[in-house]
Amino acid sequence: MSTEKTLVTLDASHGAGRAGHALPPCALVILGGAGDLSRRKLLPALYNLMLDSGLPEQFAVQAFSLEELNDESYRELAREGVQQFSRRPPDEENWAKFARMLHYFRGNLGRGQDYAAMAQRLSQLEAQFGTGGNRLFYFGIPPQFIEAAASGLGQAALVRPARPDGPFTRVVVEKPIGHDLASARAINDQLARYFDESQLFRIDHYLGKESVENLLVLRFANSFFEPLWSTRFIDHVQITVAEEEGVGTRAPYYEKAGALCDMVQSHLLQVLCLIAMEPPRSTEADAVRDAKLDVVRTLRPLSPEEVSRWVVRGQYGEGLVRGEKAKAYREEAGVDPESTTETFVALKCFVENWRWAGVPFYLRTGKRMAKRASEIGIYFNAVPRILFNSSPRPPLEPNVLLIRIQPEEGLSLRIISKVPGQQLRLNPVMVDFQYASASPEAYETLLRDVIAGDQTLFMRRDTVEASWRFVEQIVETWRDNPTDPASYAAGSWGPIEAALMIAADGRAWRTL
Ligand code: BG6
Repeated sequence: MSTEKTLVTLDASHGAGRAGHALPPCALVILGGAGDLSRRKLLPALYNLMLDSGLPEQFAVQAFSLEELNDESYRELAREGVQQFSRRPPDEENWAKFARMLHYFRGNLGRGQDYAAMAQRLSQLEAQFGTGGNRLFYFGIPPQFIEAAASGLGQAALVRPARPDGPFTRVVVEKPIGHDLASARAINDQLARYFDESQLFRIDHYLGKESVENLLVLRFANSFFEPLWSTRFIDHVQITVAEEEGVGTRAPYYEKAGALCDMVQSHLLQVLCLIAMEPPRSTEADAVRDAKLDVVRTLRPLSPEEVSRWVVRGQYGEGLVRGEKAKAYREEAGVDPESTTETFVALKCFVENWRWAGVPFYLRTGKRMAKRASEIGIYFNAVPRILFNSSPRPPLEPNVLLIRIQPEEGLSLRIISKVPGQQLRLNPVMVDFQYASASPEAYETLLRDVIAGDQTLFMRRDTVEASWRFVEQIVETWRDNPTDPASYAAGSWGPIEAALMIAADGRAWRTL
């Protein structure tokens, strides 16, 4: 399917950066700037933003990290990161331009005087690059350092209060925001001591993915979805986020988190919100975020009995991934050989409001699954068992709208059509739309939005905490009735128990 020619550009109220307006000058300070996140995601994203004119004219980066580096060796580290992880490799001319923006300061997150020394260096950069005192602090650091970093910045007078006029200070915080409701509240309290909510940008990188962002446009810029978007026409919804990778080098974190807290609490619930939310009153950040919050608050709490029937935990055992033998989770480096951490979770939940009454939302996510594929499936009600659906065996397949998040972003609609020919034979066919060009990476979109000051795609405190509240009932039930997770072979679609859970409702997971 191709796109039509008329392109609609939105006005500035839809985010300054998006509408092609000049972005404000600013300095970006990356705490943990020599770490993995920086090398893999932030620096490649910044490089690509520069290539697409998505950075302000006056812009500088100040990395703050413990490693023994200087400007020159930091630029080398950045170049290797960009070479390895950027969607476009560095070329000489552009790299030289980009490298000039990068600066390094060696400092310890726990040492107050290091922030003061960094502040001096930063003001020199601000003068040199003309960034006008606008500052972004990116917390690319583990959650246990958030308090130290926030207070270090505060005490070194690096944080300016939120004011509509004058230079801005913004802070970007990575997930995980806590490991349960109490710890999420504690982190949010720490942040609130130093920053106003309007200065806080809590990243959920799924919200920066092109097709996730497109969900709102799809729903509210097309007239034919909205009348169908309810229990009257939708039978159920499936959200799948399948990863091929195993736990990699992140065992210390993942052993404590597991798939439920690592993925469902954030990414899957955020996607669910965008599918289930009511039309927001405007495209303003808080209007959109209010509508999302309503969804999380409307999720029906699961009783212990429902948790045992509707939530499946799995853990990968040995298996074959792309024809190669893959280790079991318990044999991975840093994993307890008797670990009961789940690497897969499938669950059924309900958004208990007028629109969605009785419509199950099935969510599943896992590591070491058959392939990397994330998709939302909207399953419409079957047509009545009359006319074309009166006798066929098996019955006609219902219409499905598939929204592919990755790897190939796009959508498909399954419709029933006649097979050409003299006989009356019916066949499901897919009407397919795929983005023609490579989309920007999520971090590019999100960094640009932070610079533009658009909080729409960032998680607000209340939503993060409401999501923890929902997830915590499940964690508590598991804690009260400890059981081993069901085993599944690496490279498969998860444990049989997940298939049985949905089969009990007369439905099946889609094979992606
Ligand atoms: C992160 C999780 O938030 O998302 C990881 O902590 C996971 O465990 C990752 O692998 C998946 O992101 P993506 O963009 O590769 O689907």
